Amino acid sequence: MATSTATWNYRDEFHEAFARTYFRRFADCIVSSIGVGTYLGEPTDEADENYERAIVEALESGINVVDTALNYRCQRSERAVGRAIQETDVDRESVLVATKGGFVPFEGSMPENPGEYVREQYFDSGVCTPEEMVRGNCITPDFIDDSLDRSLANLDLETIDLYYVHNPETQLEERSAEAVYDLLEATFQRLERRAAAGDIRHYGVATWEAFRVGKDHESYLSLPEVVRRARAASDTVGTDATHFRAIQLPFNVHMADAFTVEGQDGPEGPQSALWFAHEAGLDVFTSASILQGKLASGLPGDVAALLDGDTDVQRAINFARSAPGVTSALVGMGSPDHVPENVAAGTFPPLGASAFDEVFE
Ligand SMILES: NC(=O)c1ccc[n+]([C@@H]2O[C@H](COP(=O)([O-])OP(=O)(O)OC[C@H]3O[C@@H](n4cnc5c(N)ncnc54)[C@H](OP(=O)(O)O)[C@@H]3O)[C@@H](O)[C@H]2O)c1
Repeated sequence: MATSTATWNYRDEFHEAFARTYFRRFADCIVSSIGVGTYLGEPTDEADENYERAIVEALESGINVVDTALNYRCQRSERAVGRAIQETDVDRESVLVATKGGFVPFEGSMPENPGEYVREQYFDSGVCTPEEMVRGNCITPDFIDDSLDRSLANLDLETIDLYYVHNPETQLEERSAEAVYDLLEATFQRLERRAAAGDIRHYGVATWEAFRVGKDHESYLSLPEVVRRARAASDTVGTDATHFRAIQLPFNVHMADAFTVEGQDGPEGPQSALWFAHEAGLDVFTSASILQGKLASGLPGDVAALLDGDTDVQRAINFARSAPGVTSALVGMGSPDHVPENVAAGTFPPLGASAFDEVFE
């Protein structure tokens, strides 16, 4: 498990090489504001080796946040993260390891008959029913419990630092928002229990659309309601306080709606997801921070001119890590060659709050 002492020691070793606010608080720990993501890439041995090398290099150069998910690259990404953590000289206790459950994970490669695989692994074994699964997504307590066990094994860890329920808005295709909140509350109860047992330290929700779209959007979920459900789950289980701690959502120059769309009901009126999260004391991790690689070929000129960095990728990373309330900008790094450029983004200061606002004027 990531600890306060080990993450602060990590920060002390690296912080002089970086600009101000590169390291940021996460609960009692301190973490880099750039994290390694592991979503993209083929489910091959070669891609595994590249991820493993990239993660080791990132950990040994000042990045102590790693994000993965059970289903990424048919479980290969989690296993590569596990091997990289074993291999590196960096202490496991100085790294925030986050993963997610909520989608069917295949075993190493796409099976010839995915439907048969799902039936055998999940329906016949009683983990969940076909009605509970929507396009490979299931967020029931039993499915999440089963997924968490698989992730602990893949990562070869005793404790996962941050465990996300993955894209719960997928469930809105088949059930009402109220039913999705009820499901989340039931699953949060299970996660509160798993936190009390030491299997996870914190949990959260990773989304693609839910929190950044407006209320009238079909994928909308209310972040305040999700937080209320987490508090209720903690009360029911009897944990001292909820272990719900973080959200993940896409954020980049072309997908800035978590900052611009005021779709969440704050204490004093409508707020963006980022402001609501900030004021509620939640940590935000951004996905697709460089628009799945597309920002490597350029940012809008007026925005680029405001951002520090030697390259477009660095400026794009710095845009994401400048947004108010963002703890860490996740960047997929399946190529070791990309790591030095991405790490070096952190040697430039992020935009201050008023300069960030200026981007949208
Ligand atoms: N709903 C969700 O929960 C959700 C959804 C999407 C993503 N995520 C998480 O967020 C992480 C980041 O998002 P993402 O991976 O989708 O998109 P991203 O970080 O915006 O982009 C990753 C892509 O950019 C490329 N890249 C990285 N550094 C580069 C550089 N210096 N120059 C040129 N290209 C570069 C990567 O190539 P290489 O791989 O070859 O290095 C990869 O193809 C994911 O890995 C995942 O952990 C979560």
